[in-house]
Amino acid sequence: MIEDVVELAKRRGFFVQSAGVYGGVSGFYTFGPQGAALKQNVEDTWRDRFAIQEGNMEVDAPTVMPEAVFEASGHLDTFDDMHVECPECGSNHRADHIVEDNTDIEEAESLPAAEVEELIAEYELVCPDCGTGLAGQVIDDFNLMFETNIGPGSASPGYLRPETAQGIFVEFPQLAEYARNQLPFGVTQIGRAYRNEISPRKSLLRVREFTQAELELFVDPEEDEPTLDRVRDVTAPFYPADEQEAADGEIREATIGEVVDDGTVADPWIAYYLGAAAQWYESIGVDMDRFRFRQHLAGELAHYAADCWDAEAEVDGDWIELAGFAYRGDYDLSKHADHSGEEFTVFKQYDDPVTVERATVDPDMSALGPEFGGAAADVAAALESLVERDPDAFEAASESGDPVTVEVDGETYEVPIEQTGYAVEEVTESGEHVSPHVVEPSFGVDRALYTALDHCYREDEVDGESRTYLALPAGVAPTTVGVFPLMDRDGMGDRAHEVVDDLRDAGLAVTYDDSGAIGRRYRRQDEVGTPFCVTVDYDTLGEGDDPELEGTVTVRERDSTDQRRVPVESLAETLRNLRDGALTFDDI
Ligand code: GAP
Repeated sequence: MIEDVVELAKRRGFFVQSAGVYGGVSGFYTFGPQGAALKQNVEDTWRDRFAIQEGNMEVDAPTVMPEAVFEASGHLDTFDDMHVECPECGSNHRADHIVEDNTDIEEAESLPAAEVEELIAEYELVCPDCGTGLAGQVIDDFNLMFETNIGPGSASPGYLRPETAQGIFVEFPQLAEYARNQLPFGVTQIGRAYRNEISPRKSLLRVREFTQAELELFVDPEEDEPTLDRVRDVTAPFYPADEQEAADGEIREATIGEVVDDGTVADPWIAYYLGAAAQWYESIGVDMDRFRFRQHLAGELAHYAADCWDAEAEVDGDWIELAGFAYRGDYDLSKHADHSGEEFTVFKQYDDPVTVERATVDPDMSALGPEFGGAAADVAAALESLVERDPDAFEAASESGDPVTVEVDGETYEVPIEQTGYAVEEVTESGEHVSPHVVEPSFGVDRALYTALDHCYREDEVDGESRTYLALPAGVAPTTVGVFPLMDRDGMGDRAHEVVDDLRDAGLAVTYDDSGAIGRRYRRQDEVGTPFCVTVDYDTLGEGDDPELEGTVTVRERDSTDQRRVPVESLAETLRNLRDGALTFDDI
């Protein structure tokens, strides 16, 4: 239950609503010591899987960006949610969520606002806070970006980035240089993103400040293919669009190889990263029996996306979007090229130079000047641009004798073909400019972290006592080892401190605890997901009943509560191997 996880998270230092002393603000959370460590480990495993293992670059861009970036990206115009205000209590809500929460309709976000207004009236939907009917209330578009001013005054507006992606796209010309203009190449970024959500809800699942881990993969659409064999055998549940639309549609378990071969996932790059994502989610503790990849329905697709799949997890009875995997074509780079006037292409060198026919113009300014006055230079530029895009327009004009037509600032200009200087020349080219296409796996870190906590939350009974524990994988647990002296006397405390120092020197995350009965100390570590506890006792010091146990400690595993004796001298190596999965507890 979400309440149990949230209560544990607060009590044991995973996360709390921030600025609680001032009443708190919805949608902002502070990660406590356990949560910050868990988040860092989740991010580290993502970095390892999606940047280091894939050979992708990582960048770290600013969170505030100028208006021009979001004009080009389209966020300024279209990054809106449907907002409805209660006429009675004045509370604000997402109109599409009210429809989804109270009817069988899914994905109401993709419906036009007028239709959502009609549904609210038809189903007589009410304000979730005070129960007042919302029929007849206007639904307006609410832009989710937080606006700010860069420097004094308002001359230079800026926005907190609503996604990390734009920080990568705007640097593409430079990043392509770093990649030596070789496609494909990928750029990752892990960082904060900000969305002024109308009604944040469900703890970390919908917040106003969150962390994204995004990968922008730049590929040559004509040539590049992923090394699918690396993930071909990865199995995951798939929920394609046709199954969602069918009355008896179902979720199908399949391998990545199968969904590529039968065309379920059309783009092999998307399929590749679905495979990598399934492996990663499992490694951080997401239960694969409560996980699926769901394809976007046609109405859900962003206008630039050819295909999109979401990774979803079941949390508290709802399917939550954890990540999106979109084929974005050349939309992002071409928008930034148009708006900035810079080149957002990669020059692809041919193996051997080729000779091609190239249409060119050389406008006759002595004729254009008197004819078009101040607009002459723009008309010439428009002719140069037209011959690159549409040389046939000049060929047709040459044959018919009609003038060539161009548009400048909404005005139409007709230029006789002989004044355009149109010619077709043979040129030798050593390569061509390619507009890379973008494949974007985009992950929410907070949702992944929350889902891992929810899916790893367990209650059982040990020695007749109920206990709560987090079955987090050892590789992401905030602390790997809890070290306890059986009692803080007779030298056991000092010896335990030495063990702590040795383990920390070996790079393990260790905590020391000597307060209360040993059983209580185990419970404390169980609740924060510490996978192993080490106890220093009289046997360790050579003062116990069994002389053979001198120099050994007890290692106790969290989930099974099984215990083993391990020599102190090999303790660090054993625990590191257990954490990294090179050893199982039964192997000891
Ligand atoms: N660049 C693409 C992009 O930003 P998105 O689907 O809007 O795509 C990606 O966001 C991921 O970010 C989501 O799958 C989700 O995990 C996370 N996310 C988005 N909005 C969020 C919010 N308000 N709170 C928490 N996580 C969020």
